[in-house]
Amino acid sequence: MTHPAIPLAGVIGFPIGHSASPRLHKYWLNRYGIAGDYVPLQVSEGSLETVIRALPKMGFVGANVTIPHKTSVLQIADHLSDRAILVGAANTLIFRADGKIHADNTDGYGFMANLKQGAPNWSAASGPALVLGAGGAARAIIVALADAGVPQILLANRTRPKAEALRAEFGTRIKVVDWVQAQDAVAEAHLIVNTTSLGMTGQPDLKLSLDGLSADTVVTDIVYKPLRTPLLEQAAARGCVTVDGLGMLLHQGVPGFERWFGTRPEVDDALRAAVLG
Ligand code: ATR
Repeated sequence: MTHPAIPLAGVIGFPIGHSASPRLHKYWLNRYGIAGDYVPLQVSEGSLETVIRALPKMGFVGANVTIPHKTSVLQIADHLSDRAILVGAANTLIFRADGKIHADNTDGYGFMANLKQGAPNWSAASGPALVLGAGGAARAIIVALADAGVPQILLANRTRPKAEALRAEFGTRIKVVDWVQAQDAVAEAHLIVNTTSLGMTGQPDLKLSLDGLSADTVVTDIVYKPLRTPLLEQAAARGCVTVDGLGMLLHQGVPGFERWFGTRPEVDDALRAAVLG
């Protein structure tokens, strides 16, 4: 099968109106003068497979996948990357010219690329990371941190058994700390990552005391609405380097865009402004 002259990509989710991915990819298409398009695709669970199988025939070269389909898409794809298997979820589909569907997970890549860009002096080897939350985002981030060589991951989650389950799955590098005592781990951590929705506009605040936080610790949030979460504000006031969550969203889109459209796109301030609208 040959791809048509105007390649299409999109983001599959339900609902999909909130997704920033169309703004992201359309910005890149425009910036690099690529005659393609990227569209939101609201797809229910029941029609997921039918739609995904139909997309390549309609001129799509790939798609992103978001909530609630990131896990179920693994059953549909013909080929899974090692990373997608390990994380147990995929966010990027590549419709290959031979008709096969390849599924990958670029969330961990996006997290690490954002961290490296925002905190270039952070080194994985420097010490433990404190990860707050044990949901889907935490899984991808834990895998990425372990891969980068972080010696210990202190993991705190409101529902402790979910953190214990991640420890059982991903190994002894993870030490589960109690949610209500997470502040005790703050002084030990060289990196703090909030992977929960706490601090997002309309959600409760993350109540984590940063007493004892070293100014050398990097603090990052996956929340990007607002860009400066109360956690990041508190950390910045203590002299820490902080990394907001928008960059993770932007960087996770890079590998997909490159595979679909043949150009590796840049993540810079102009892109951040365009996506924020
Ligand atoms: P995502 O894919 O974004 O990680 P998720 O899988 O639903 O979303 O995970 C949400 C995370 O935020 C979980 O760690 C959740 O904690 P629980 O496992 O205890 O549910 C955390 N979270 C959400 N709301 C929270 C709240 N009000 N207090 C503490 N943690 C919260």
